[in-house]
Amino acid sequence: MSNLSASEDANAIVVCPDGPILVRGDFEIVSTTGEPLPRTRRTVALCRCGASTIKPYCDGTHKLINFRTEFPADPEKALPDR
Ligand code: FES
Repeated sequence: MSNLSASEDANAIVVCPDGPILVRGDFEIVSTTGEPLPRTRRTVALCRCGASTIKPYCDGTHKLINFRTEFPADPEKALPDR
């Protein structure tokens, strides 16, 4: 289970099942050309499904397309080789 109830003051990246990646804290989000992207909230949702019309932000389209994710039974297998 994710720790969605962590302190609101803590920086955090939360991967939502079947949804976006929530980024909370003092981070700068930049475009592929290095330009800072507008951000009006401390917590933003980044699109993970690829279907958002406001990329890199989530616009909720993942629900319309029934985006589904699978998590490995063993989280260690999700880590890249080092
Ligand atoms: S994850 Fe929400 S629109 Fe892509």
